[in-house]
Amino acid sequence: MDNFIYHNPTKLIFGKGQLDTLPNEVEQYGKKVLIVYGGGSIKRNGIYDNVLAKLAEINAEVFELAGVEPNPRISTVRKGVQICKEEGIDFILAIGGGSTIDCTKAIAVGAKTDVDMWDVVTKKEQAQGALPFGTVLTLAATGSEMNAGSVITNWETNEKYGWGSPFSYPKFSILDPTHTFSVPRDQTIYGIVDMMSHVFEHYFHQTPNTPVQDRFCESVLKTVMETAPKLLNDLENYEYRETIMLSGTLALNNMLNMGYRGDWASHNLEHAVSAVHDIPHGGGLAILFPNWMKHVMDDENVGRFKQMAVRVFDVNPEGKTDKEVALEGIAALRAFWTEIGAPSKLADYDIDESSVEVMAEKTVTARPEYGNFKVLTKQDSLEIFKASL
Ligand code: NZQ
Ligand code: ZN
Repeated sequence: MDNFIYHNPTKLIFGKGQLDTLPNEVEQYGKKVLIVYGGGSIKRNGIYDNVLAKLAEINAEVFELAGVEPNPRISTVRKGVQICKEEGIDFILAIGGGSTIDCTKAIAVGAKTDVDMWDVVTKKEQAQGALPFGTVLTLAATGSEMNAGSVITNWETNEKYGWGSPFSYPKFSILDPTHTFSVPRDQTIYGIVDMMSHVFEHYFHQTPNTPVQDRFCESVLKTVMETAPKLLNDLENYEYRETIMLSGTLALNNMLNMGYRGDWASHNLEHAVSAVHDIPHGGGLAILFPNWMKHVMDDENVGRFKQMAVRVFDVNPEGKTDKEVALEGIAALRAFWTEIGAPSKLADYDIDESSVEVMAEKTVTARPEYGNFKVLTKQDSLEIFKASL
């Protein structure tokens, strides 16, 4: 393993009815609260009313930023920063999925600096601090509720980048699985693909001696695969929602990747696709990840793929070459995602050859090379996109 320091300051508040803790958690930061949410799902499922009732218990003065887009935009971040500065906001509460939380992280950091947040997202400027913020998670997918990462899109330049800072951890996140009962089938599928992809991004690394981390990863993957089909047949089942919700958090709160650095090329590829086509993140990953696997697998790294095939997909290795076992594992992943209803090719989103070049260029705008398990260039992006058409 590599040396590491693990510090995650987010208080995780998990379970049915845990919204009751909200007044106490918010009160310590002040009375002026900006709530940030998306396109209105929280109004339809009642979470909005429940949150306002809880904030009324502490006589909070509530301000609102509604309409955060899936794939949140820098223009919305700027609106939020302006509200914080003009109104002297004390605390921000994100109510929603990864997009709302990511947008909130950028607003919180933007409120404490005079530079434009796009310069922080593109790493030209550094975060100086952040307003305190918390989250009420309504969709299990990104892990943003317990990490410091955020992904923001700029539609003027068609760019989508991840950024993070030591200041952008939520102070607390309230995870009540019943808040995810109303997540539609397609978004539930995307969330499942996203959390599995986070584990795969960790799993494909080159650091020796990570046996406990490997088995943590395999355990999350197996649990999600066991639960997903049951949940998709029974969307309001508490136990299935609970299992998937905790899995999503564990998949990207940096516990699984203690002591090594994962790959993250597939996320770079997906962000390039959704920077140009505004498709759901999990949908893009379902298409790209198996093709990344096939593209990077070689004689030197085949062992890792074989381990995944045998331990996660129960491939029987007897009488087969390592490569055959590995390819069977990748095919099993493809089959699983297809079975649960995830897309398998870019054509499913009407994306054709004509945008391959521009998407490939986006994968290397920030850096000419990317990926840690195997270093990739624009040529690799072109090949992976073409294989994904
Ligand atoms: O906007 P509303 O009306 O709330 O509807 C949302 C949205 O349309 C809906 N939804 C959320 N909770 C619901 C619900 N509908 C009914 N009932 C509920 N309880 O679901 C739709 C998608 O929401 P969104 O927040 O966009 O989904 P997700 O959580 O998958 O977030 C995706 C974003 O996160 C980024 C992605 O790139 C993408 O921009 N990521 C963030 C990461 C991080 N911060 O660590 C890591 C990820 O890899 C990812 O890149
Ligand atoms: Zn992701």
